[in-house]
Amino acid sequence: MIYQGNALSVARNDGDIAILTFDLQDESINKLSSAVIKELQDAVKAIQAERNLQGLVITSAKSVFIVGADITEFHAMFARGESFLVDMCQEVHELFNAIEDLPFPTVTALNGLALGGGCEVALTTDFRVMAESAEIGLPETKLGILPGWGGCVRLPRIAGADNAIEWIAAGSQNKADAALKLGVADAVVPAERLEAAALDILARANAGELDYRARREEKKTPLKLNAIEQMMAFETAKGYVAGKAGPHYPAPVEAIKVIQKGAGESRERAQAIEAKAFAKLALTDVCYNLVGLFLNDQLVKKKGSKYEKQAAPVNKTAVLGAGIMGGGIAYQSAYKGTPILMKDIKEEAIQLGLKEARKLLAKQVERGKLTTEKMAEALSNIRPSLSYGDFGEVDLVVEAVVENPKVKDAVLTEVEGMVGENTILTSNTSTISINRLAQNLKRPENFCGMHFFNPVHRMPLVEVIRGEKSSDAAVAATVAYARKMGKTPIVVNDCPGFLVNRVLFPYFGGFSALVDQGADFERVDKVMEKFGWPMGPAYLLDVVGMDTAVHAQAVMAEGFPERMAQDGKTAIDAMYENERLGQKNAKGFYRYEEDKKGKPKKVSDERAHELVKQVANGSQEFSDEGIIARMMVPLCMETVRCLEDGIVGSPAEADMALIYGIGFPPFRGGALRYIDAMGVAEFVSLADSLAKELGPLYAPTDKLRDMANRQERFYASDSQASQGQA
Ligand SMILES: NC(=O)c1ccc[n+]([C@@H]2O[C@H](COP(=O)([O-])OP(=O)(O)OC[C@H]3O[C@@H](n4cnc5c(N)ncnc54)[C@H](O)[C@@H]3O)[C@@H](O)[C@H]2O)c1
Repeated sequence: MIYQGNALSVARNDGDIAILTFDLQDESINKLSSAVIKELQDAVKAIQAERNLQGLVITSAKSVFIVGADITEFHAMFARGESFLVDMCQEVHELFNAIEDLPFPTVTALNGLALGGGCEVALTTDFRVMAESAEIGLPETKLGILPGWGGCVRLPRIAGADNAIEWIAAGSQNKADAALKLGVADAVVPAERLEAAALDILARANAGELDYRARREEKKTPLKLNAIEQMMAFETAKGYVAGKAGPHYPAPVEAIKVIQKGAGESRERAQAIEAKAFAKLALTDVCYNLVGLFLNDQLVKKKGSKYEKQAAPVNKTAVLGAGIMGGGIAYQSAYKGTPILMKDIKEEAIQLGLKEARKLLAKQVERGKLTTEKMAEALSNIRPSLSYGDFGEVDLVVEAVVENPKVKDAVLTEVEGMVGENTILTSNTSTISINRLAQNLKRPENFCGMHFFNPVHRMPLVEVIRGEKSSDAAVAATVAYARKMGKTPIVVNDCPGFLVNRVLFPYFGGFSALVDQGADFERVDKVMEKFGWPMGPAYLLDVVGMDTAVHAQAVMAEGFPERMAQDGKTAIDAMYENERLGQKNAKGFYRYEEDKKGKPKKVSDERAHELVKQVANGSQEFSDEGIIARMMVPLCMETVRCLEDGIVGSPAEADMALIYGIGFPPFRGGALRYIDAMGVAEFVSLADSLAKELGPLYAPTDKLRDMANRQERFYASDSQASQGQA
């Protein structure tokens, strides 16, 4: 044994080859925490001191290779500031360079996933062999940083600047075949032959058949690009990537700049450029929030998997209603491999539902994501029906009939008589209380809410609503089914609007108040889109549908009259009364025309402006900040209330629900992180000043005031990043 640590060990094989194996104790994966980096330093020293070695193989004893750096350390580490981070990167550069400079050939045997720092370890060796199922990539830009342990330097020299830019800017995870094509992998073999193949490469390198020194040299010297290649690779890429990433995500373009600046430099100088740029990005609020997002997502997934472990199997399901939602649910279930019965009362609804599923599957085939055979298989997973024929066999039912309490009551009690004793019933209602729907059921413990978002195939969130009588088994099975469908379930408690709509409607309330006081709705849309929302509130209302919005608003007003009841007619009411329902009838706040691809394209419509003016009472001027505050404060306040009322279990789940459910700008981290970023005290004083003018929808709660007084935050503060850019 040459070295034995907690996360890795180095041993001599039967001959002269050192085998460095990553195998982090008590974890299912390997990651590069700072402790692991220390061990790697010691291990490399031990390898350097060992006599008569002829080669090094780096590999892993887990199913993954190395998934990357330890992201749970990021906030605290980044909080230590720029020069600390530059030093940290430089230290790792020295370590990785030491591996690269070992006096014998080296190879990485990639058995599984190699991401971020894991990929960067692999790039230090002369050769890489990949198992067929292994994948490799540098996803750092997705966290608002760039590869800081040599990825921006080595990948371009190995794969070419253009390919490196593509991988790094997209943060993609790439299959072994793709890696082989670019020369990132030297061979792809079946997993069981991986070690033999790695040893074979070393033998050939030692025999002079493979020139490992030339490989090394290439990585250590400047990239050979002429002026035109430079122009093509870098300038064109910068423009394209900047357009794709948008103004709020600077990391991909920064990464290209680092590759460009380092291209003409030696290894060490290029690494110094990379270290500086890494440290700069690591200190931005965008990075802080994206890292937070990753951690929140982990927490949500962990909770989901805990439920899943307790759940009875969900192998066969049914959906009631083949409309917009029912059809989408059937498609998603079938596509992800759970056979589903789709029942409606109208034959034509069923035909429409099937047509939609077929269209979505055909698109997957077009994109090369599905073979025609798999498409046929998925389609055969949907069994349409006008009767309850096979309902006795299903494990879970999703009710998605029209949003009418009487119809839902009738349908749910009826289906309860058709299914087995243990079948879980769920409702996709958006506005009707789960406790209320449970009242007429014989087995209310088997019932809970399963709230999907439109369009089902695209929206990642499913709210699982636990009613007073819902059993753990019902909630667990529903969570498990949502995960099987590839969705992110978040469990919430019952209240009007549940979590997401309860928070969304106060945001629409903020919108109504703004236009009532004279703000131009198209400007409000532009300001909120610039702030980071995928669409502004007027546009969003057009997508949701004015009839749905008016109905849901009434439910919210009944549930929370003290702050959500509206006096007078709003712009939304005006649209509704004038039969401007939004996209569904091609006119709402905007008019919709079909673009070349047959998709609705919005255009300004004078008539909508006239209607809004008729109901508006003021003619105030608003700054962009004023608009943002009036939109965001009610949304944030309602999120705080949901947390205080126990509707949602944690700040992480609340923030993730808003990001996954309504497209809250991810780089801002969510409503509660947004309050943290502003400072709770500052937020309270902003909310107070707005509440004076606009009423209780804007008012802070007593608990939030207490938090402000005690200088508390929603998220632990060990991790405060720079206050800099927003
Ligand atoms: N559309 C959305 O954006 C959205 C989003 C989330 C939740 N929801 C909820 O999903 C549910 C369905 O909404 P939708 O937009 O799909 O409505 P939809 O009108 O498109 O579809 C409803 C379908 O239910 C069928 N139906 C009516 N009575 C039935 C019965 N007794 N048995 C079987 N089928 C019956 C109708 O024929 C129709 O095909 C509603 O509760 C709605 O609030 C909708």
